[in-house]
Amino acid sequence: MDHIKIFSPATVANVSCGYDVLGFCLDSVGDEMIIHKISEKGVKISKIDGYDLPYEIEKNVAGVSALAMYEALQPDCGFDIEIYKKIKPGSGIGSSSASAAGSVFGMNELLGRPLNKTELTKYALKGEALASQCEHADNLAPAIFGGFTLVRSVDPIDVLQLPTLGDLFATLIHPQIEIKTSESRAILPKNVALKDAITQWSNVGSLVHALHTNDYDILSKSLNDTIAEPHRKQLIPHFDSLKGEVIKAGALGCGISGSGPSIFALSHGEKMAKEVEKTMQNVYSKTEIPFYTFISKVNSQGIKIL
Ligand code: HSE
Repeated sequence: MDHIKIFSPATVANVSCGYDVLGFCLDSVGDEMIIHKISEKGVKISKIDGYDLPYEIEKNVAGVSALAMYEALQPDCGFDIEIYKKIKPGSGIGSSSASAAGSVFGMNELLGRPLNKTELTKYALKGEALASQCEHADNLAPAIFGGFTLVRSVDPIDVLQLPTLGDLFATLIHPQIEIKTSESRAILPKNVALKDAITQWSNVGSLVHALHTNDYDILSKSLNDTIAEPHRKQLIPHFDSLKGEVIKAGALGCGISGSGPSIFALSHGEKMAKEVEKTMQNVYSKTEIPFYTFISKVNSQGIKIL
């Protein structure tokens, strides 16, 4: 095999209560990448379609992660990466992670899979850090492992795969404003109140329990964020009114997707997810801000070979 074409999915990080640790993988939106094994040594990017991103390896997240893996493995060949970017950078659904994870996944396949998914996450983290100026793996892990994941530790990297509820659907709205992850992280306080921390870790624990016991009711009760959302929601116009309407419409929960501006809701069943989508559209069509919405099942596979 001298080349591989892959679908590298969008992801929702944090899932309200799990800042920097929880995430899940989407099915309906993702980048496509073609990775070629070439005789010339080194890593290069020969095509970027969709968005204006740097071709220099050291400035491109897919390039940085690929280079980290390449230097560690020292293979007897080189790689040429083509990126067909569908996930808008700065949208809050793991655009940089899809690129960073895709390049290392593709190279690993072409080399006969010398690395496991945890090791791939370790190298992809180098690319992600370029985008957010911090090593967090809560978008990378669901893109690479699929389903819901919990990043127990980044150093050393340790990812736990969590089960997914069978009839769980996500609805997303992407208001067309850009929020840089680094800026959205910078507005968070360095310290949190003990009472907020207690609420947060009880919600993380109960969310994990809900996934293991297929309990939609406990999942719903767990989808609250006392740490990041109270600060970040100011960056997203109409967040409170949208969330209020979405919950009234019957969603299990609603929160900021990653560092925003996308907002996600989780619903029991596709019919409810569609209701929630209509509700989101109603709220935002009354504003001046362009937006798009979509529905997705949880993608339990992660990156797919096309
Ligand atoms: N956990 C990260 C954050 C995800 O919230 O900043 C970024 O997509």
